[in-house]
Amino acid sequence: MARSIPTSALEGQLPWHHIIAMFSKGGVIVDVFDAVRTILAVRRYQDRPVPDDLARRILEAGRLSASAMNAQPWHFIVVQNKDTLRQLGAMLRTGPYVAQAPLAIVVAIPPGPYAISDASRAIQSMLLTAWSEGVGSNWVGFSGSLEGIKPLLGIPADLDVLAVLPFGYPEEAVGRGKKNRKPLAEIASRERYGQPYQ
Ligand SMILES: Cc1cc2nc3c(=O)[nH]c(=O)nc-3n(C[C@H](O)[C@H](O)[C@H](O)COP(=O)(O)O)c2cc1C
Repeated sequence: MARSIPTSALEGQLPWHHIIAMFSKGGVIVDVFDAVRTILAVRRYQDRPVPDDLARRILEAGRLSASAMNAQPWHFIVVQNKDTLRQLGAMLRTGPYVAQAPLAIVVAIPPGPYAISDASRAIQSMLLTAWSEGVGSNWVGFSGSLEGIKPLLGIPADLDVLAVLPFGYPEEAVGRGKKNRKPLAEIASRERYGQPYQ
């Protein structure tokens, strides 16, 4: 996924819009589509911490995401305390494996028409940033299903919890880029709904 190509080596070889579709850090280029193509839900993690600078970069990816009217209506709670992670896992029916993750980011939002869309975009930014660095993750829960964890983390009553995102180095290789997805013809139309996209 990550290729060690000096940024300068791309000049003159790729159209500018392709270069912009990549992001560059320290000469390592990660193709955005490749990250989207290969990312999978990771539910088993090595007993190895996610380095602090990477945890911060994941968080930055959320912070930098776009939102309606630039309202940035999210709050991210970074959990690394093992006991808190254990307690979170015990509370999450669809995510008990959070207990084994070295890091979780809990996403809280206010009620309203935009916040779920805004925070979902921030979540995808965070998951892809982690994946581009070899760290797996997943999305656990949905708005309304996570009320029970609010007291544990001191989340104010007027906020909802949209998701718990566990992060960690994958315990085993997952998927190898193979995804179980509907074909384009089933989920896309050309020009008008129902006209096959071929
Ligand atoms: C909004 C949303 C909520 C999800 N909730 C859970 C969850 O509570 N527990 C879980 O284990 N996976 C959850 N997932 C992960 C999906 O089940 C998983 O991404 C999907 O089955 C496709 O698998 P793949 O990502 O490995 O291709 C959620 C994903 C999304 C986008």
